[in-house]
Amino acid sequence: TILTGLFGHPVGHSLSPLMHNRAFAELGINFRYAAFDIEPGQVREAVDAIRALGLRGVNVTIPHKVTVMDYLDEIDAEARAIGAVNTIVNDGGKLIGYNTDGRGYVRSLTEETGVDLSRQSALLLGAGGAARGVGVALLGAGLGSLVITNRTIEKAEQLAEQLQAIHPQANIAVQPMEMMGDALAAATLLVQTTSIGMHPNVEASPVAVEALHERLLVSDLIYNPMNTKLLRDAKEKGARIHHGLGMFIYQGALSFEYWTGQSAPVDAMREAVWDALR
Ligand code: ATR
Repeated sequence: TILTGLFGHPVGHSLSPLMHNRAFAELGINFRYAAFDIEPGQVREAVDAIRALGLRGVNVTIPHKVTVMDYLDEIDAEARAIGAVNTIVNDGGKLIGYNTDGRGYVRSLTEETGVDLSRQSALLLGAGGAARGVGVALLGAGLGSLVITNRTIEKAEQLAEQLQAIHPQANIAVQPMEMMGDALAAATLLVQTTSIGMHPNVEASPVAVEALHERLLVSDLIYNPMNTKLLRDAKEKGARIHHGLGMFIYQGALSFEYWTGQSAPVDAMREAVWDALR
């Protein structure tokens, strides 16, 4: 049996083991995926254990995505740009770090909505780790233009600078939150990366309903709940919507492909996750 797994703290509620084990079963390959609760302070030992135990690789989640980078042999360029690793591959004892979150998001968004990114004027809401991951990937996929807004405007400015350094040709701007109405009027894609609206605060939305309009595709990274207040408001205004579950599934699919070298059975993975959430 070839072992893979998840390093996080906590990991008890993660749907990754179920999703990956379903995918392995679907292809009939002898892999298993286990959840490992790694205490902060034990990250180096945990990474060493990948080598010692011969794990094929692991996913890394909160709070270890940044810390883990110190103990790897190599970090791929995109993960370095994002500043975090969510996937480790054990290549014969050499540990390589990748980040599949951003690309997983873009694959979900484009495959599930059919949107042509090169024609989109996007407003990115938030400037934390999730915003950086999807920002790097959206620009890498040829996004038309990007405006960033955030409660703490300095963080938006910092993120814009970092993204501009990675993509010198990209059209990137920053707007204060108070200008969200104007920014949204000019946007065709809204990407919501803050925690506002997440369970249990399901009646909270970061955007006034009046600012939404029918030319928008509204994408919320949250998937618990699936239909956030923002997405319910957007639908009511005639906008198209996209929720965060696909990002979770496709980041896993890309990790799966690194470990197994085979195409991930995305439909089976989605079904496993849907069944668990129902
Ligand atoms: P993640 O990795 O999920 O992005 P993070 O790095 O902590 O988490 O970033 C959280 C994001 O949600 C930030 O953009 C944060 O805004 P600030 O930079 O101003 O802190 C945003 N956020 C969280 N709670 C918020 C709230 N109540 N109102 C506005 N923005 C909020």
